[in-house]
Order: sequence, then structure tokens, then C-alpha cells
Amino acid sequence: MRHFISTLDWSRDELQQILDDAQAMKKGLTPRALEGRSVGLLFFNASLRTRSSFEIGVHQMGGLAVVLEPGRSAWPIAFEPGAVMDGEEEEHIAEVAQVLSRYCDLIGVRSFPKFQDWSLDRRDNVIHQIAKYATVPVVNMETITHPCQELALALTMQEHLGSTDGKKMLLTWTYHPRPLNTAVANSALIIAAKFGMDITLLCPNEDYLLDDRYMDAAREMTAAQGRSLTISHDIDSAYEGAQMVYAKSWGALPYFGRWDDEKPIRDAHKHFIVDEAKMARTDDAYFSHCLPVRRNVKVTDGVLDSPRSLAIDEAENRLHVQKAVLRRLITD
Ligand code: CP
Repeated sequence: MRHFISTLDWSRDELQQILDDAQAMKKGLTPRALEGRSVGLLFFNASLRTRSSFEIGVHQMGGLAVVLEPGRSAWPIAFEPGAVMDGEEEEHIAEVAQVLSRYCDLIGVRSFPKFQDWSLDRRDNVIHQIAKYATVPVVNMETITHPCQELALALTMQEHLGSTDGKKMLLTWTYHPRPLNTAVANSALIIAAKFGMDITLLCPNEDYLLDDRYMDAAREMTAAQGRSLTISHDIDSAYEGAQMVYAKSWGALPYFGRWDDEKPIRDAHKHFIVDEAKMARTDDAYFSHCLPVRRNVKVTDGVLDSPRSLAIDEAENRLHVQKAVLRRLITD
């Protein structure tokens, strides 16, 4: 039994098989690989795309998706081993994961960081606790990485760029009024590295670099394939020659838990917005974003609505890649 928690646990060849299966399903019929089966979807955070694409994907494969929102439509859950549960939590993840494993054939989990202490958030405790007690495969629906989004991005890039090997990807931080999860940025970095791209990571300063776990993995994967990972804080040169521009906002890791200190720094970098002038410096690059996106804050209407924008294609591809992931996990 395998989990789909991080693509770092999966080889490029294995991921390509999933992408090929997703493409085949996109072009043809979806096998009813989940006929008579059930998938539990645990949402600790809000969602539009992830929830709808998982529910619809499971339905198209003949299965039943059960959405649970702990603390809202389901009991609040305790996670710490040995917890003395005299607070708000009504049950422990040990029971939740074991019980759901008796009902379900797969379990999906969305659990964002707490944004108070990155040294704790980087452990990704919730999904790892569920995987520890579950006896069925667990799928990451976004925690501190977003591997389903990664596959959707990879499929979308392959559809438009052909082979991604040696193609130039710019991953740019953008402004957002609130500090956001680093998950999609971590994921864009590692999937671009895994699939042999030359990557430039553009961000305001070193405090906005991503966790060493992902920076080091990306460096290793790019170096092993003769590719490069370049860090830049200079907008003009970073956009030069890019063939793919991927935008995301994220909170600076050293400022977790003291966001009032980070806010003036973030506010001073609103000019990182992706606009037509910046895109004009690229090699006619495609643009994408995981969505949801704040128009004219992260990206201008002109770029998002342009024929080079792949954001809607990428969102559609969530459906296809997730069905391929579920099929792979159920048959492994
Ligand atoms: N991209 C993405 O995961 O969207 P949702 O947060 O709406 O699920």
C-alpha cells in the first residue's frame, strides 16, 4: 500500500505514468475503477476546486465520496499522542483514521499549516498522523505541499510546452494582503525540478525562500539532470527568456507567528504583480496560477485573460490527474 503525500516519494517515471493515465482519461472514457468503493475526504480548510474535483472524479469512477469537515460537520479531532482530551476535541485521530479505514478504500486530507511556528508546521503532523493509523492509502489534498496541484501543473505544461526538459520556468512570489501557505510554491518548485526544467525562483528577499527541504530537493533534482535553480530578487532579469511563468503568494517562513512584523515588508512589494510589461520580457511565456487568485493584486486582468493564460486548463486538469492518482493507489 502506498500513500500520495509528497511527489518526493514518487519517481519521475511513476509520475509520468499517472500523467499519461490522466491524459488518456481526459481524451476518453473513465474506467469505473471505484465501482462499489468509497473515498473519505477530510477537509480541515475551505476549498472550491479540490472538493468539487475529488467528489466529481470519484463519482465518474463509480465510487462514493464522503466529505467530512472536522470541527464543523464532524467532531473536532485531537492529534497529539498521549493527549489528555479535556478541551474542545471529542475524538482522537487514532480512532478517526481506523474507523474511516473500515468504511473507505481511500482517505483524502486537506490540512493547512497553523501559521504560528514553521518548525512545527513543517512536520505536516496531521496527514502523517492519519497515514500512521490508516490502513488504506492516504492522498494529500494540500497540506504543506499540494501534490495534486503539481500533477495538474505538469500535465498542463506538457500539453502546451511538449517536453518540459530544459524549458525555463519562472516561479514568482506575488503580493497578497494576507500571508498564505507555501504549499503550492513548494510543489511548483519540486515538480518543475522533477521534470527537468531550468527554474528561477523570484521573491522579494531571502526571507521568502522556501523551506530547505524543498530548496535542497529541487537543487539535487535539477543538478542531476544538468539543469539549474537560480534565486533572484530582481524582477526584470528574472522574467527574461522565461517560457512558463507561475505565480503564487506565500508568507515568509521566519515571520510565522509574528505577521505584524512581516506586513510592511510584504506591503512594499506589491509591484511583484504579474502584468503585461513583465510578461513582455519573457519568451512569449505561458502564465498559470493554482487559483483562487486575486485579480489585479497578484496578476492583472490582461495577463489572466490572455490566450497565454493556462489557469483554467490547470484547474480542469486537477480532475483528470486526481482520478489517475486514485486509480493508481487502488490498484497498487
Ligand atoms: N487550487 C486549489 O486547491 O483550489 P481550492 O483551494 O479551491 O481547492
